[in-house]
Amino acid sequence: MRRRISDFTKGGGPYVWITAYDYPTAKLVDEAGVDGILVGDSLGMVVLGLPNTLGVTLADMVRHTQAVARAKPRALVVADMPFMTYETGRRDALKNAAKLIKAGADAVKLEGGSEYAHIVERLVKAGIPVMGHIGLNPQRVLALGGYKLIGKTEEQRRKVLEDAKALRDAGAFAIVIEFVPASLAKEITEKIDVPTICIGAGPHCDGQILVLHDVLGLSEKPPSFAKRYADVAEAVRNAVRQYVEDVKTGKFPSKEHYKD
Ligand code: KIV
Ligand code: NA
Repeated sequence: MRRRISDFTKGGGPYVWITAYDYPTAKLVDEAGVDGILVGDSLGMVVLGLPNTLGVTLADMVRHTQAVARAKPRALVVADMPFMTYETGRRDALKNAAKLIKAGADAVKLEGGSEYAHIVERLVKAGIPVMGHIGLNPQRVLALGGYKLIGKTEEQRRKVLEDAKALRDAGAFAIVIEFVPASLAKEITEKIDVPTICIGAGPHCDGQILVLHDVLGLSEKPPSFAKRYADVAEAVRNAVRQYVEDVKTGKFPSKEHYKD
């Protein structure tokens, strides 16, 4: 049975999420049994080679969301709203979120807490499920001066908790919490009646999410909180090295690969 947002309940986890950006990997991660697939704007860095996520366009997200949706995963598919496709107001947010839904997403995710709660509320009212994203917001990397732990000060901690409350009140169906102290993610998970999906925020959450390319060993600079489960980069290098050698030495193509 296909996942629905109502399958993500408080206490029903732990939910396992991962990113995917294309048809074959969406199929593979779905076969492996994840609960949710995020078409993250991290694709800007891990697929398109951009320095950060700020250059990702709505067209990029639509294209990749379509590819993932064509895999018809059982997992829920959430698409990221790129930088400046929702901050400019409710109308823009509605119009742009609708494009991601029409591309095949079951829900959208946007970064930010109390300052964009009114946007989340409007989307939810229009029938578009929204996943929140608080703590470290990579779309704010320029203002933050890097990808730093959020919640080192009492003031920062209070702000992240307020953000979670604002997203709950706005109707978010789940909240991604990125790179905050585990104690803060635990406090939010206990106090807020919305499933929390964590990355670099410890074990006391309703679920975890990782970037596929970090899991596979395909990222150039994986964050410290990611875990690598395979060295696919080495597998690719070895396979292509073998192909290069086979052609150079006349081993490929051999009889079974062509007709006389
Ligand atoms: O774009 C992304 O991959 C994300 C996850 C890290 C949560 O937003
Ligand atoms: Na993202």
